[in-house]
Amino acid sequence: MDTTTESSASADRIRTSGDTEVATYLEVAGAREPGAVLTSAPNAPEAVVVLDYGSQFSMLITRRIREASVYSEMVPWDTPAEKLSHLRVQAFILSGGPSSVYEDGAPTLPAYVINSGLPVLGICYGMQLLTHTLGGRVEPSEEREYGHAILNLTEAANPLFKGLPGSLPVWASHGDKVTQLPPGFHGIAQSDNAPVAVMTDGANRFGILFHPEVVHTPQGDTLIRNFLFEVANCSGDWTAGNFVDESVEAIKKAVGNGQVICALSGGVDSAVAAALVHRAVGEQLTCIFVDNGLLRLGEAERVVETFTKHMAIKLRHVDATDRFLEQLAEVVNPETKRKRIGETFIRLFEDETRSLGRVDFLVQGTTYPDVIESASTGNNAAVKIKSHHNVGGLPKDMRLTLIEPLRNLFKDEVRRVGKELGLPDEMVFRQPFPGPGLAIRVIGEVTRDKLEVLRRADWIVMDEIKKAQVYYDLWQAFAVLTDTKSVGVQGDFRTYGFTVALRIVTAEDAMTADWARLPYDLLAAISNRITNEVREINRVVYDITSKPPGTIEWE
Ligand code: XMP
Repeated sequence: MDTTTESSASADRIRTSGDTEVATYLEVAGAREPGAVLTSAPNAPEAVVVLDYGSQFSMLITRRIREASVYSEMVPWDTPAEKLSHLRVQAFILSGGPSSVYEDGAPTLPAYVINSGLPVLGICYGMQLLTHTLGGRVEPSEEREYGHAILNLTEAANPLFKGLPGSLPVWASHGDKVTQLPPGFHGIAQSDNAPVAVMTDGANRFGILFHPEVVHTPQGDTLIRNFLFEVANCSGDWTAGNFVDESVEAIKKAVGNGQVICALSGGVDSAVAAALVHRAVGEQLTCIFVDNGLLRLGEAERVVETFTKHMAIKLRHVDATDRFLEQLAEVVNPETKRKRIGETFIRLFEDETRSLGRVDFLVQGTTYPDVIESASTGNNAAVKIKSHHNVGGLPKDMRLTLIEPLRNLFKDEVRRVGKELGLPDEMVFRQPFPGPGLAIRVIGEVTRDKLEVLRRADWIVMDEIKKAQVYYDLWQAFAVLTDTKSVGVQGDFRTYGFTVALRIVTAEDAMTADWARLPYDLLAAISNRITNEVREINRVVYDITSKPPGTIEWE
């Protein structure tokens, strides 16, 4: 046994799990590689780290952990130990993935995971990897196990199974199986195609071949919670309230006496980010609300009132309707509309920022899905602050440091934080609204008059949807002013008016969506009111296209 501090320390911890063969194996596996030891910064928050091996469900594991009030981050499997030092890691979960452990170049298990002696739960590929790394054998299975399976517990008293029945439905998706357990491990459950569906070393390492994180494993939550609380002794104190307290401290420390700006869009992310930063630095924060004239009826007023009256936040309301409409004159191409609106916003924001004098920080409402999408992990648990030049197209000489206090949160968590900060429900649970606003809901050229017509029709849609109490069941509900005119008869007169389309969809996220099966009476009420109350419109149609093939917005 090597006597250098690093590896003897890790070997000691490995030995306490009761198997010297494992320790020897690990030395071969790279226990002495640089970066193989996990450290954590003082006061780092408790967390469970999910190492992502590429399964489409990896993010769901993180969600399930957080739903149990335990903070969790998902990182790529090859993340070096030092990139986790902002966390006090309490356990690791290894996700599933498309690879086979015996293939050349298959993703491996970082040495620090085992060296740390911390609890490990390997799921599917994670289990196979744990087996392979710790000296067991994984082989292709003759029959692929895919879909529903029944799990039979053979060691029901194991803490991982607390509160579970002796047999339960699970959902599996794997071609490989464990044919020889690693030394010191034994099976504690089996399924038809997998003699070892769950294994453990009898201490704190587990492998499960199925997916507890998906809804098709109805008791998967219990299993994950058992791992967190019965095995890993997590404290489960990660709540919106604690998040706010920790973030406020971190922001205060980072900002010091600096001046901070934040662009408000009226959307939930920027609103919550601003409210959080305001709680930390008060008067040092100035919010800039660029009203592009493309918002829904009464929306600009609502933003101004909420922030100035209810929250007492310093707010600059820039009514730039004219400037945006000038830029949109004669533009019919949707992408050109988006580009013009984006550029105009940046120029205006830049002018406002300059006019404020000294500004050091910019708040952005980036959330976790954006972060994961851009694969930039390894962030501070409470608040990410990174030096940033040329933020969102701002000129290079404007050096602002970026504050992204929500970058570790999912949307529903952002909403909980918003509630905790006292933001009104209508802001926190607001349906998504696109940055380019009504400009992409007026088909063809955007004019002041058309915007006005659309706004009135759109308000009726919203009003009826809220009255019918279906607002929160829908992803989005809005009106689109088409460029089609048609003949109608209103009163005794022939009319030639606009056609409005109703776009009302349900969705889990905006990647796919379905048109909402609203009651006919509700659709009738919306249609009647629009044609009665908005003189310019004489026809209302309902868009019954799902996404795909349609998109949610028409442009
Ligand atoms: P689509 O139309 O692509 O929309 O199905 C998916 C979601 O994204 C919103 N959306 C946008 N949001 N800028 C935004 O900030 C945009 O240019 C934009 N285009 C679409 C849309 O409202 C829906 O929620």
